[in-house]
Amino acid sequence: MAKVAVVTGGAGALGRAVCAWFDRAGYSVFLNGISESERENYRGPGQLDIVDLSIEDQCRKWAATLPERVHAAALIAGGFSMKPIVELDSLEIEKMMAMNLLSAALTLSALTPKLTAADGASVVMVGSQAYTGAPGMAAYAAAKAAVVSLAASASIELKKHRVRVNSILPDVIDTPANRAAMPGANFDEWQKPEEIAEVIGFLCSDSARVITGNALRLGR
Ligand SMILES: NC(=O)c1ccc[n+]([C@@H]2O[C@H](COP(=O)([O-])OP(=O)(O)OC[C@H]3O[C@@H](n4cnc5c(N)ncnc54)[C@H](OP(=O)(O)O)[C@@H]3O)[C@@H](O)[C@H]2O)c1
Repeated sequence: MAKVAVVTGGAGALGRAVCAWFDRAGYSVFLNGISESERENYRGPGQLDIVDLSIEDQCRKWAATLPERVHAAALIAGGFSMKPIVELDSLEIEKMMAMNLLSAALTLSALTPKLTAADGASVVMVGSQAYTGAPGMAAYAAAKAAVVSLAASASIELKKHRVRVNSILPDVIDTPANRAAMPGANFDEWQKPEEIAEVIGFLCSDSARVITGNALRLGR
């Protein structure tokens, strides 16, 4: 039977490359998007469901539909925004926390029995190098710091269930949205989604069976 990979935010720029990696590696792929339009636009492998993972009920109901054993979980769903501290309000802070922390924490919680059942599962969460602090990104950076901390706690708590948990810390990813936002930048310096997908795939592979509890900084 094929191994199962769950990819949250799998219809996004990085998520698509990760779904394609797992598909090439022979996994059955299950992914989610948040907006209905993603269902029409997504052309990649796997089963795509529309779920807002920051809403607990939706998240747990979706997790319940997934196979009983989940061998790899790439928790990629997230979002970015910039706002100077003087303009921060509760809406902005809650939005960043919901998209980044809640989506990862609720999915991890809901999937834990299925990860445990796989005996040797691996979870990769997506932080950001901004997590240590960056101007204009206070809410986003704090949310990503929380994601990195969540992964660290989970790696310790879930060790006894043979579930490994790591986070990765990308810098700027070469996505259509970033190209549109920063047209003057040197795109060659940016990390490619396919390169990051290889790292996630490696962390979920048997070759990484002694790697857990790390926040892995990516760069060229
Ligand atoms: N792009 C970068 O330069 C960069 C750098 C460092 C870290 N990261 C992180 O890397 C990850 C992927 O980035 P990306 O550029 O590929 O972003 P993206 O294209 O916007 O993909 C993120 C995906 O997550 C989904 N999502 C957001 N909130 C969700 C929720 N509550 N429930 C379910 N799905 C949700 C989005 O759906 P919608 O499209 O419908 O909102 C989208 O499909 C994110 O966690 C991001 O924070 C990105």
